[in-house]
Amino acid sequence: MRRTLGWGLLVVFVAMGLGACAGRDSAPASSMPSLYKRLGGREGIAIVVGDFTANMAADPRVNERFKGLKPAEVEKFKSTLADQICDATGGPCSYLGKDMKAAHEGMRITEAEWNATVENLVKALDKNNVDARSKQELLGALGPMKKDIVGQ
Ligand code: HEM
Repeated sequence: MRRTLGWGLLVVFVAMGLGACAGRDSAPASSMPSLYKRLGGREGIAIVVGDFTANMAADPRVNERFKGLKPAEVEKFKSTLADQICDATGGPCSYLGKDMKAAHEGMRITEAEWNATVENLVKALDKNNVDARSKQELLGALGPMKKDIVGQ
């Protein structure tokens, strides 16, 4: 009798454990990998950020903003931005940079500069064959930051 009860409890605990796992895995996004993964993880994001930064540096609509940065500062900027995107898309990174309002305060960034920046990001995503859905999701995650960046 005690033996039977013991096995019974074991079965219940195992079932509860499996249930807990199933609960976590069956969240709405379960069938699709995180945006972080679809972007190729931290490495894929770093490649997109590298291309984006090169696009920004070559774009006369925005490159004056970055011309004062030394090479080491550009590298720091790229790594901070990649961490931010990794963090915002479900990756295992922590963004430790300034909040967007503080980072862009006093710059008086215009709507036209914002649009040029989005264009440069889309160009970088296209170059790396990021699919349309993932592209939209990333732009959707960054869009709400506009109010803290433009006109500050
Ligand atoms: C969604 C859009 C944007 C995101 C996610 C973003 C993100 C960032 C991040 C993470 C930093 C570094 C913060 C830190 O050092 O702690 C930064 C700095 C900066 N951003 Fe943005 N930014 C955006 C839009 C823009 C736009 C539109 C411009 C102007 C064209 C701009 C110009 C700058 C400049 C000049 C810096 C300072 C770079 C430095 O001194 O190191 N950003 N941004």
